[in-house]
Amino acid sequence: MDIYRENVLDHYKNPRNFGNMDKPDAKFKDSNPLCGDEVEFYLKIDSGLIKDVKYHGQGCAISQASASILSEKLIGMKISDVMKLEKEDVTAWLGSELTPSRLKCALLPVMVAKAAINEFEKK
Ligand code: FES
Repeated sequence: MDIYRENVLDHYKNPRNFGNMDKPDAKFKDSNPLCGDEVEFYLKIDSGLIKDVKYHGQGCAISQASASILSEKLIGMKISDVMKLEKEDVTAWLGSELTPSRLKCALLPVMVAKAAINEFEKK
């Protein structure tokens, strides 16, 4: 088994930062329209920095592992840097063997985290 696949399976089976958050500063929920799989992110934000992250979700191994990996990356990140995350960042974390339909799975959590920040910035 290659190291990327092992990492994805580990995050899927042992999700990091999975759960609820009391009074998040930002939250957003969305689903992949192709399959209905869902991800919801909750963020604590202070002085432009992400201080804490929790998420909920249900779906395929790639979407849920991607959410878990993203949750770890986000903690301590500037919100301006989160908005700059791209497809290439996500594929670097997950491994490059993603087919286009799997790429949609992998990108769902990043889209949701960005949408949460967009909502936060509108306030
Ligand atoms: Fe639904 Fe992956 S199959 S997000």
